[in-house]
Amino acid sequence: MQLRSFNPPPRTLMGPGPSDVPPRILEALSRPTIGHLDPAFIGLMDEVKELLQYAFQTKNALTMPVSAPGSAGMETCFVNLVEPGDKVVVCQNGVFGGRMKENVERCGGIPIMVEDTWGEAIDPGKLEDALKSHGDTRIVAMVHAETSTGVQSDVATLVKLAHAHDCLTIVDTVTSLGGTPVKMDEWEIDAVYSGSQKCLSCTPGLSPVSFNERALEKVRQRKTKGHSWFLDLNLVMSYWSTGAKRAYHHTAPINALYALHEALLILKEEGLEKAWVRHRKNHLALRAGLEALGLTFIVKETDRLPQLNAVTIPQGVDDAAVRGRLLSEYNLEIGAGLGALAGKVWRIGLMGHSSRAENILLCIGALESVLGEMGAEINQGVALPAMQQALSR
Ligand SMILES: Cc1ncc(COP(=O)(O)O)c(C=O)c1O
Repeated sequence: MQLRSFNPPPRTLMGPGPSDVPPRILEALSRPTIGHLDPAFIGLMDEVKELLQYAFQTKNALTMPVSAPGSAGMETCFVNLVEPGDKVVVCQNGVFGGRMKENVERCGGIPIMVEDTWGEAIDPGKLEDALKSHGDTRIVAMVHAETSTGVQSDVATLVKLAHAHDCLTIVDTVTSLGGTPVKMDEWEIDAVYSGSQKCLSCTPGLSPVSFNERALEKVRQRKTKGHSWFLDLNLVMSYWSTGAKRAYHHTAPINALYALHEALLILKEEGLEKAWVRHRKNHLALRAGLEALGLTFIVKETDRLPQLNAVTIPQGVDDAAVRGRLLSEYNLEIGAGLGALAGKVWRIGLMGHSSRAENILLCIGALESVLGEMGAEINQGVALPAMQQALSR
């Protein structure tokens, strides 16, 4: 086989992430690599921290990107905050709550599962019952935006409940950050993590995290060393702390951080509130088109994420064949169902730079053509006008 440089095919990314990366970010990524202790690079790191504080709406000093994808942000929170024997309530309403449970177990903690139906928001009443039954719980963990179903939970209320029972909180905002409000300080979240490749529209591989003083105090007071050297915040902070003399911890992914800086700058220039409004407006247009086709959402409107639209696959339709044709004929990627929803739903993402009118037009038009040609029972000729009408509002 003759090996050549890899040139990816052109794609429109409307799955559960990664999202389309704008040319401005790709250009930033290709700038010359400099040393990771170069004063110019350290200046960039300080700006990345400041921009992340804006994105998370926090003043927390410990706000920085972990040099690995969202799963590493998740591990950073658990490895640093959970000690052997700690009881951790994990609210699970989809795939990612299950990964939190795994993390608790691997840290030697005791997970107490509070389970809700997939596609429904986390029920504060169930959390309260669990906290009453387990008075010695130390931490409550939850996913703000469940990417496996497209549901959003009321983090502000859940965090308040956890604090009333003297627990710290860990919140997954991988899919929410930049797409729907995440207000770390106002909601008093103790530890949060996210990902670069969803509504920030950066390349995958970085995980912004933020810890408040209460969470950091728990990290400092640990009786045992966490089992990960790489993710130990006591060590990582010697490289990321603002102003202080930086000590080598690991070689930062320098060019990836140029890209994240550019992505966060784009978000700052647009403004968080405007980004949230754009995601909502485009969701309404996509919804109008999908519902006009005859497809149904699995999450009720009030709990739905605008950036992740999960719809039921019509009866008798071959899931993989549809996604395959969208990719090969239209260069369009939509997401398959995950876990218990595999083969049952499609997950259509409108995240970050992917949340644009032209993408919605392509998606609705392509779906109508492919489903129509495959003989699916859909309504023909009404979806594009419905979508266009919603966009013009
Ligand atoms: C809610 C949620 N948490 C965690 C992750 C893990 O992130 P990554 O795939 O970047 O490791 C994802 C990825 O899709 C996610 O959607």
